[in-house]
Amino acid sequence: MKVTVVGAGNVGATCANVLATREVANEVVLLDIKEGFAEGKALDIWETAPINLYDTRTVGSTNDYAKTANSDVVVITSGLPRKPGMSRDDLIATNAGIVKTVTENVMKHSPDAILVIVSNPLDVMTYCAYLNAHVDSKRVFGMAGILDTARYRAFLAEELNVSPKDIQAVLMGGHGDTMVPLPRYTTVGGIPVTELIAEDKLNAIVERTKKGGGEIVNLLGTSAWYAPGAAAAQMVEAIVRDQRRVFPCCAWLQGEYGVNDLYLGVPVILGKNGIERIIELDLNDDEKALLDASEKAVREVKDVLDGLDY
Ligand code: NAI
Ligand code: 2OP
Repeated sequence: MKVTVVGAGNVGATCANVLATREVANEVVLLDIKEGFAEGKALDIWETAPINLYDTRTVGSTNDYAKTANSDVVVITSGLPRKPGMSRDDLIATNAGIVKTVTENVMKHSPDAILVIVSNPLDVMTYCAYLNAHVDSKRVFGMAGILDTARYRAFLAEELNVSPKDIQAVLMGGHGDTMVPLPRYTTVGGIPVTELIAEDKLNAIVERTKKGGGEIVNLLGTSAWYAPGAAAAQMVEAIVRDQRRVFPCCAWLQGEYGVNDLYLGVPVILGKNGIERIIELDLNDDEKALLDASEKAVREVKDVLDGLDY
C-alpha cells in the first residue's frame, strides 16, 4: 500500500507521522511545493523508525508527482491555514487554486487513488477536488467530522471525568460554526449523555465544539494540527485496512437528508472503496432545522466557488 500526503506543513507532516508509526502503508510520500521541505520532514519522520519500531518508508518530494505514482490513497492538506481573525471561508480563492492544481497532478499519476481532502474551507475544497478529479464521489471526501467529534468527545470526557474512549458521538453539517453536534446520538459507555450531564453544561460543550477550531487559532496564532493530522490518518487507515468504520465525513449528497449537489458532513461507512454507504438518520425537527442552516451556510461558499469557475 502506498499513501501520499500533499502539503508537508503542520497537518500533513503530522498525518504522515501517524501513518508511518501505525504502519498503515508500506510507503508514505510527503509532497510540498517548498524546496526541500517535504524531504526534510520525511527524513525526520523516517529517523524515528528505529526508535518507534516500524518499517514504513517515508519519502519526501518537492513538487515531483512522479514519486507519488500509483498511490492508493492521497490526503490533500496543501493550502493556507487560518490566522487569527480569519474565517475558514476567507481562504477560499487561494486554496481553491491550490486544491485544483494538486488534484489534477495527483490524478494524472494515481488515477485509481481515493482522495481525502483536509484543506479549508473544507466542504467546498472537497467539492473543488471532486470537480477536478473526474471520478466517482465515493472516492473523494473530506475530513472534518472526526476532528469535530473528537473535540466534542474530549470536552465531554473532561466534564464527566471519564475516558474519552467511552464517548461515542455523531456530528453533522459543514466544518464551521454551523456544524451540528447531535446530543441525541451521543452516548457514554452506551448510556445516553443526556442522563449524565445537565442541559446547560451540555449546551455549553456543544457551543465550545462549534468554535473549537477558532479556540486553537486564538491560542496558537495558526490552526490545529495534532488532532486534524490524526483524524485524517484514521480515515486513511479505515480505507487501507477495509475496516468499514462508521465516521462523520464530508460526502457528496444526492438527495440524502433532502440535500442535493452539495458536500456536507454526514455519517458514512468507510472501507476499501472509500464511502461504502451514507447512513441516513431520522432527524427530529430541531435537528433538521440546524442541518438546514448549516447546508445554507456551506451552499453560500459553494456559490462563491462556482462563481470563481474552479
Ligand atoms: P501549513 O501552512 O502548515 O501547511 C500547508 C502546506 O501546504 C505548506 O507547507 C505549503 O508549502 C504547502 N503548499 C501550498 N501550496 C502547495 C501546492 N500547490 N502544492 C503542494 N504543497 C503546497 O498549514 P496546515 O496547518 O498544515 O493546514 C493545512 C490546511 O488544512 C489549511 O487549509 C487548513 O486550514 C486546513 N485544516 C483543515 C482542518 C479540517 O478539519 N479539515 C483542520 C486543520 C487545518
Ligand atoms: C480546525 O478546525 C481550522 O479547520 C481548522 O482546527
